[in-house]
Amino acid sequence: MGHGDIDGQIGAPHASPIQHDPGDITIQADSSESGRSGSNQSSSLGTLLKGFGRSFSPRKLAVIWVEEWIGAVLRPVPSLLGFVLRYLFYKMLFKRLGGFCFIYAGARLFHTYGIRAGKNFHVNAGAYVYGRGGLTIGNHVLVGQNAVILSSTHHWSDPNVPIVFQGHRAEPVAIGDDVWIGANAVIVPGVHVATGTVVGAAAVVTRDTEPYSIVAGVPARKIGERPRPRAAVGSAVNPA
Ligand SMILES: CC(C)(COP(=O)(O)OP(=O)(O)OC[C@H]1O[C@@H](n2cnc3c(N)ncnc32)[C@H](O)[C@@H]1OP(=O)(O)O)[C@@H](O)C(=O)NCCC(=O)NCCS
Repeated sequence: MGHGDIDGQIGAPHASPIQHDPGDITIQADSSESGRSGSNQSSSLGTLLKGFGRSFSPRKLAVIWVEEWIGAVLRPVPSLLGFVLRYLFYKMLFKRLGGFCFIYAGARLFHTYGIRAGKNFHVNAGAYVYGRGGLTIGNHVLVGQNAVILSSTHHWSDPNVPIVFQGHRAEPVAIGDDVWIGANAVIVPGVHVATGTVVGAAAVVTRDTEPYSIVAGVPARKIGERPRPRAAVGSAVNPA
């Protein structure tokens, strides 16, 4: 994905960008990163909040607020009651939801104003579904435990500005019908997971997949094929 250069410069864990850039990179807006000044910290907070406010329409900000607070209350509700309450909740928030969905207790869905999903959408416990950049999901899609689906990415091309201040870029994700995303898999922004794909546990899908393929590994590669059905299934992603 081309992120390696940046990771190589400043990606060490538990370290600020300043500590890992030996003088050849000028950090312009990061004085709070060093944690030395309270006023600098609050100005960074202000910059981030202003940027956040500018990035979203009032409706999107309202959805973000509602999914944070009411979503947190509904997230642990067990049993059938939990499924029904979460279905009604996300039916209101999604751009489109084509039928009943099974959002398991503990699943996390954010920026849901950007999600269009077909019928029979299953999201298992601990999965993280992020619709900020636009996410289209077909019918009968299963998302395994702790899988992560991302649809936007940080800008990181300017080495003089910390990534946290460079803003986001939408990279929509499309997932076809009858897709199964295994536990702990990651779908990175901009990918099309074709109809019928099986994504193996812990795979990192960085490229579009072929219809009815089985992909696995990091990065995900095709390891097999599923038999194809006799008739295609129509949906938002793959109209019949
Ligand atoms: C991808 C998957 C469906 C493949 O199942 P399968 O067709 O029965 O494949 P096999 O077990 O025969 O394995 C075929 C090869 O792929 C490899 N492989 C299988 N799953 C893999 C994975 N997730 N990552 C990397 N390699 C994998 C196997 O090691 C084997 O390699 P080999 O031929 O060199 O020995 C399955 O392994 C998987 O990951 N399932 C997801 C389970 C899950 O997440 N459940 C959550 C419930 S929603």
